[in-house]
Amino acid sequence: MAKSSRILIKGGKVVNEDCSAVSDVYIEDGKIIEVGPNLQVPSGARVIDAKDKLVIPGGIDTHTHMELAFMGTKAVDDFHIGTKAALAGGTTMILDFAIPQKGKSLLEAYDRWRSTADPKVCCDYSLHMAVTWWSDEVKREMETLTKEKGINSFKMFMAYKDVFMLHDSELYAAFSQCKEIGAIAQVHAENGDLIAEGAKRMLSMGITGPEGHELCRPEQVEAEATQRAITIAHTVNCPLYVVHVMSKSAAKVVANARRDGRVVFGEPIAAGLGTDGTHYWDKDWAHAASFVMGPPLRPDPSTPGYLMDLLANNDLSVTGTDNCTFSVCQKALGKDDFTKIPNGVNGVEDRMSVIWEKGVHSGKMDENRFVAVTSSNAAKIFNFYPQKGRIAKDSDADVVIWDPKLTRKISAKTHHQAVDYNIFEGMVCHGVPVVTISRGKVVYENGQLNVRPGDGRFIHRQPFSDFVYKRVNQREQVGKPTAVIRKPYEGKVIAI
Ligand code: URP
Ligand code: ZN
Ligand code: ZN
Ligand code: ZN
Repeated sequence: MAKSSRILIKGGKVVNEDCSAVSDVYIEDGKIIEVGPNLQVPSGARVIDAKDKLVIPGGIDTHTHMELAFMGTKAVDDFHIGTKAALAGGTTMILDFAIPQKGKSLLEAYDRWRSTADPKVCCDYSLHMAVTWWSDEVKREMETLTKEKGINSFKMFMAYKDVFMLHDSELYAAFSQCKEIGAIAQVHAENGDLIAEGAKRMLSMGITGPEGHELCRPEQVEAEATQRAITIAHTVNCPLYVVHVMSKSAAKVVANARRDGRVVFGEPIAAGLGTDGTHYWDKDWAHAASFVMGPPLRPDPSTPGYLMDLLANNDLSVTGTDNCTFSVCQKALGKDDFTKIPNGVNGVEDRMSVIWEKGVHSGKMDENRFVAVTSSNAAKIFNFYPQKGRIAKDSDADVVIWDPKLTRKISAKTHHQAVDYNIFEGMVCHGVPVVTISRGKVVYENGQLNVRPGDGRFIHRQPFSDFVYKRVNQREQVGKPTAVIRKPYEGKVIAI
């Protein structure tokens, strides 16, 4: 495999989120130098023929949890294996979550995540920060993270009672601070109190298997929290990003809010777009448990198609995976009690193919919308566009040569992830990455990876993303409530 830092991609159809055109792409030293027809081959350049193929921006997975310590164990895809698998699937950047324990410093969590990830990542990455408790110190640290550490997004949990969950007054405070510092508030929208009550009820009824996981947190538990988060965010004029939108009900809440003019973005994930929650009722416990994640996949089998329709028409905005993988022996921590099954599924390797198959091959969206929802919208919302998410002069050379006609069958036997099952097992997808270029280097070709841990870089993100904050700032200027000027009331006041 050539190690050339000069690459000319010839004759492919360059697809951005707004247009497609047959063009060559010249890459040098990690950057796209030129895009245009019939470019001359510069000396020493490796030429890659992309005729009849698409040349797209590398995928950006907005939501991963590599090697997360969670529910008594640790996710098996670490930053090395997880980012390698990402590259094999055509994803060239991930956004992971630094999650401090309640009462612990956000800055300390940031340092820990950076020192874990930096030496291991094979592709570029960035971090969202979780806010799992509230204090003046947390408020100050959010500002430091935004001003000095390249963080512009903070995730608040409305679920995981007593672990990560915030109450409404804390959400109000955290969202207010996000607005002040120019960050995007993200929410895990499920009602944690109702889940806790529902889980007790299921267990008392003798329902201990994975189906109990869905039964104790049905769609309305997600939809209620989604509506509540949107209401709180609107109250303080804070932009909101709803992570892992898993149900039709929650997606409708997001869509309606957008139609009401709210600055809110919804993120469906590969799992929710590619499969459903009927698996929780499978007779094979290990199979059923492998789909356990929060919020759950929904047993209504029309859910994935519905979420894809909303993604296609911009009711939902962007896609991640929530890749948080636990092998069967780890899932088995909950073999007698579904509340102890570590929550999380795979997706980082298969997201691009699953979305192509269910979104583009099905005719729901075109190739440009595919690029919008797999990379450019993420780069715009989280403020690193057009550095990434676009094939253009001066953008980072994170590029995928995509064959829309080729098919591949997803299987745990052939995937590059560490987890010992795949929730998309057996799915045949049109849309295959044939070459992945990360930071200007061919890192995946002919089914072979050529990567080194530590080759990826942390991407610093500035606050006040134009894509999000132009509207928010203008509303702040013109929408401030003002007091009515009146003469003082001079009449009688009753004595109490
Ligand atoms: O099941 C999930 N989603 N696991 C990861 C943690 C989270 O809530 O995103
Ligand atoms: Zn979550
Ligand atoms: Zn099944
Ligand atoms: Zn997550």
